[in-house]
Amino acid sequence: MSERNSGKPKERDVISIVDLSADLEGLFKRAKELKALRRKHAPHRSFEGRALAMIFEKPSTRTRSSFELAMTDLGGHAVYLSPKDMQLGRGETVADTARVLSRYYDAIMYRAFRHEDMLELAKWADIPVINGLDDIEHPCQAVADLFTLWERWGGKFTSHQLTYIGDGNNVLNSLMLGAATVGLNFVAATPPAYKPKPWVMKRAESLALAKGSIVRVVTSPEEAAKGADALYTDVWVSMGDEAEEKQRMAAFKGYQINAALLARANPGAFAMHDLPAHRGLEITDEVMDGTAEAIWDQAENRLHAQKAILELVLS
Ligand code: CP
Repeated sequence: MSERNSGKPKERDVISIVDLSADLEGLFKRAKELKALRRKHAPHRSFEGRALAMIFEKPSTRTRSSFELAMTDLGGHAVYLSPKDMQLGRGETVADTARVLSRYYDAIMYRAFRHEDMLELAKWADIPVINGLDDIEHPCQAVADLFTLWERWGGKFTSHQLTYIGDGNNVLNSLMLGAATVGLNFVAATPPAYKPKPWVMKRAESLALAKGSIVRVVTSPEEAAKGADALYTDVWVSMGDEAEEKQRMAAFKGYQINAALLARANPGAFAMHDLPAHRGLEITDEVMDGTAEAIWDQAENRLHAQKAILELVLS
């Protein structure tokens, strides 16, 4: 058994966006270069012979496509693994799966239901583990989102405000922690029962304090929209929350990005969404099909940001 297999955490795991706090600026610059290379169809195959395992316990369009294509563009190979078709789904432990995959692959991307399983996989894998979403964070999404803002705001976050409307979920957590890390003012409006967990708030507040920015959570979408340069939302019912659908539909009524809410934000403010969107619920058709170019940039930027992350963790 290797030293790593004794369960020590590894420096290059990306479990939280905070794990990338020292690297974010570099990741944005590299993602920009990689975006330009791909748009020119210029080769950037630095990963010849490298392989990524992708375990998906939940469905995915963007995360799967962008990680798989990222590895292909970089000259490597990605393998899609579903617990339905793996021995993991028949009782093989996460720890044993981690040990075995470490003998084949150079890194593992894991989309998990439970954060505990993410930590267990990272604990027992010899190779870097990248969180492709769990019930606490969605760090790769937040890197692509912040990269999208960095591009639009000429590399400057300070003096801007990102406002999030909706569920205090994994997407909000990573976005809030990431915003605090780069000194971007962050305001969220969530229903009272769906606020982010106090420990996440505390961590974000302490990061923001160090950067001189603010992190604030309120219950009124109208109050949160005031002063916003971008309005971000996510689904009201995330994967895994389906049993709560009825009460969530009632609780989130009014937590919608629509033309009236955008009009309360700063001139030039735009809408953002990590997708998939439920049109007519958290965001209107009018906004999605109108001034929402940033949303499609966010989706595209998953590819470029993930390449930069893969280069970082595999370097
Ligand atoms: N935003 C996001 O993670 O999309 P997928 O669920 O399609 O991967």
